[in-house]
Amino acid sequence: MGSVTHTSDTRPKAKIVLGIESSCDETAVALVRGDRTIIAERIASQEAEHAPYGGVVPEIAARAHAERVAPMIAAVMADAGMTLDEVDAIAATAGPGLIGGVMVGLVSAKALAMASGKPLLAINHLEGHALSPRLADAGLAFPYLLLLVSGGHCQILAVDGVGQYRRLATTIDDALGEAFDKTAKLLGLGYPGGPAVERLALQGDPKAVPLPRPLKGSAEPHFSFAGLKSAVLRAVDSGAHTPADIAASFQQAAVECLIDRLEYALHRAGPFPALVVAGGVAANQTVRAALETFAAKHAMRFTAPPLALCTDNAAMIAWAGCERLALAGEDFHGDPLDFVARPRWPLDADAETVRGAGVKG
Ligand code: KG4
Ligand code: ZN
Repeated sequence: MGSVTHTSDTRPKAKIVLGIESSCDETAVALVRGDRTIIAERIASQEAEHAPYGGVVPEIAARAHAERVAPMIAAVMADAGMTLDEVDAIAATAGPGLIGGVMVGLVSAKALAMASGKPLLAINHLEGHALSPRLADAGLAFPYLLLLVSGGHCQILAVDGVGQYRRLATTIDDALGEAFDKTAKLLGLGYPGGPAVERLALQGDPKAVPLPRPLKGSAEPHFSFAGLKSAVLRAVDSGAHTPADIAASFQQAAVECLIDRLEYALHRAGPFPALVVAGGVAANQTVRAALETFAAKHAMRFTAPPLALCTDNAAMIAWAGCERLALAGEDFHGDPLDFVARPRWPLDADAETVRGAGVKG
């Protein structure tokens, strides 16, 4: 080896991926490099369009994505001062989610891939959430236990590696973010409800209103929040409690359900060196504090991506693409250009289907 010089960096150049996210009410585009650099990113929220309806209206969402996605891609490329020639792959959320929006993003990515000759990466939105903590935290190694809590999902996953996910729990009815949004609606707090419920809860007594902890202690490993929501409705209708007490008591019940289900998942599938939380509900400080305590109790490292990476964004989609590219060989040509958008797409294909409606993965 005597003649080999080490003056130049011989490591493979980190690949650059353009990512598009459009599965719910955020149109987002990002350029991410495999060395964990977010080169450029833009996100357009549709909050104002959906606010009058107290929730996301799929048809309005699809139209808004269609209007915005092309100009946003152009803007992100301009922000980065790059052309598609310099990009290694085009990634888009291909499901699960509201199908109209998913199709808009995926078709845009297909068009760019076809025009540029770069590979298409059809990304599972849940995989984006599952891997996003590694974009923010270079020290986070596999495996880890992931709690994914958003408006559409409430799952506990064992993340064993890129493409290796075991679903340990999911919701049999509502996602936790959905329960926060419905509670906010019942309390007249507007949309999106999570942050409003959290703010109001600060002024309330978490023990004031007796509310159920659905499935707590159950041998069924999953979550359920429909019964909690109905109990909130009854508490509101009774007129016996202040909105702040109801908000605080709801939040407390929800957190206890999360911790109970995590304990059970860890008992069945653990130990894990780390606990990670992702999804919009990870913004909640009471949830975070409870998770930190839980992780400390079980000698697990706790990490949560910064808020901008917790809620829906395109950097996580581009990053999932970077992770896949880093594993792929030189003969990798991406996903087929006729990849079909999937409204439902479980991360763990082996996971059994659970009872209940509205379960998206
Ligand atoms: O991940 P996300 O942006 O979109 C989905 O994929 O659903 O999550 C949005 C959800 C909404 O239900 C919102 O009410 C909830 O996350 N959320 C919160 C908080 N901030 C956002 N829930 C509780 N407390 C918060 N501070
Ligand atoms: Zn999401």
